[in-house]
Amino acid sequence: MSRFSSPQDPLFQALNSSVAYDYRLAPYDLEQSSAHARMLARANVLSAEELAEIERGLSTIREEIDSDSFVVAPDDEDIHMAIERRLIELVGALGGKLHTARSRNDQVATDVAMFVRAHSLSAIELVHDLMATLVDLAERHHDWAMPGYTHLQRAQPVYLSHHLLAYFWKLRRDADRFRQAMTAAGELPLGSGALAGVTFETDREGLARELAFARVSANSIDAVSNRDFVLDYLAAAATCATHLSQLGAEVVLWSSEEFGFCQLPDSFASGSSIMPQKKNPDAAELLRAKAPRVLGHLAALHGVLHGLPLAYNKDLQEDKEHLFDAVDTIELSLRVARELLRGLSFDRERMADKAADEFLAATDVADVLVRRGVPFREAHGLVASLVRRAVESGRTLSELSQAEVAELAPQLSEDGLGELLASGAFIESKVSEGGTALARVEEQLEHARTALREAKP
Ligand code: ARG
Repeated sequence: MSRFSSPQDPLFQALNSSVAYDYRLAPYDLEQSSAHARMLARANVLSAEELAEIERGLSTIREEIDSDSFVVAPDDEDIHMAIERRLIELVGALGGKLHTARSRNDQVATDVAMFVRAHSLSAIELVHDLMATLVDLAERHHDWAMPGYTHLQRAQPVYLSHHLLAYFWKLRRDADRFRQAMTAAGELPLGSGALAGVTFETDREGLARELAFARVSANSIDAVSNRDFVLDYLAAAATCATHLSQLGAEVVLWSSEEFGFCQLPDSFASGSSIMPQKKNPDAAELLRAKAPRVLGHLAALHGVLHGLPLAYNKDLQEDKEHLFDAVDTIELSLRVARELLRGLSFDRERMADKAADEFLAATDVADVLVRRGVPFREAHGLVASLVRRAVESGRTLSELSQAEVAELAPQLSEDGLGELLASGAFIESKVSEGGTALARVEEQLEHARTALREAKP
């Protein structure tokens, strides 16, 4: 018997149906359903025989799903209805008892929370792997000098290890954000019913324990309308994707002919359809381009949720494609980033050559003047005049004559710039904590190794 006198219009079905994508919630739905069935048996809603029958049906469905032989019927609106329909086919009318004390509203919220929890953990693991790769690369290149940039203009020399470790700390914060999403998804919605709770005595604490939720939701109306944990996951993923896009962008630059700092592994490069000499950094470019897509999913879900009256609304079905695509995008990107980094080979000489650019010592020269009592602003101006003289006459700083130095910056006249500009001196001068001097980088590497051990998922 149905409330309706005519069948659904196929156009409406096409809009309404989510089974094509929420199919991937099936493992969580089955796990939830068997815990729910056991709870119903404890509450004497199901007899021991009925529970055994239902568990048998659910495990048959699990096998069908695992072997890709589960058949979705045309009227299955979503995976929850598909599983229930199949259960009734397998165990008869008894299958219809499984929906006692449960609505699709608390059911779907529970599945999605389980999915977010599982994939937050995958993200933490993948982020951790990438952090380990960065530490490894930093160790292997700990004393390789390179130019550091601001505004993409050569600024001051740094060690490659220092630069790579910058990504390590960004990723460590990403792992914290995914951990936070996992905590947020740790509240059990099941037992909230459609919105108001259910009329049966349900052992929600027991369900939470069985399904590994840390606690049960406090308010049934909140529970069925809550997708905050999806927002938290998407926010974590968007920030992480942004970091990977920065990394991708740098690999694109560094592997270019112009920079020539590194060579891409052949296994992560592509050729051009017309220019035989090309080795293109497509993998790095795509890492760069994925971030807005993940951010788009976050913005879209905020759009879905904003202004939504409580409690459940079908709008909430729109959480899934945003979540699933973000999960697939970030997990693939993290895997690619790790392999791409592992395969890079850096050109030590080329980087050292650019890092030895004497203009990168300008701040250090100003600091020498400061030590001789010149206020920094003034010192900055004096060094700027030395730089200008050199640039205008096509020379380097050390090519300025003693007389020119004495004329423009008299405080430097006795010893000139010689010692300061000697190779290495102005990279090793950055001795502040977290700075690029080698001893500080070694210290940072030690901190990174400790952080890596502590963050082990
Ligand atoms: N497919 C729906 C979703 O993903 C399941 C919940 C449907 N509930 C309902 N009352 N129509 O949100």
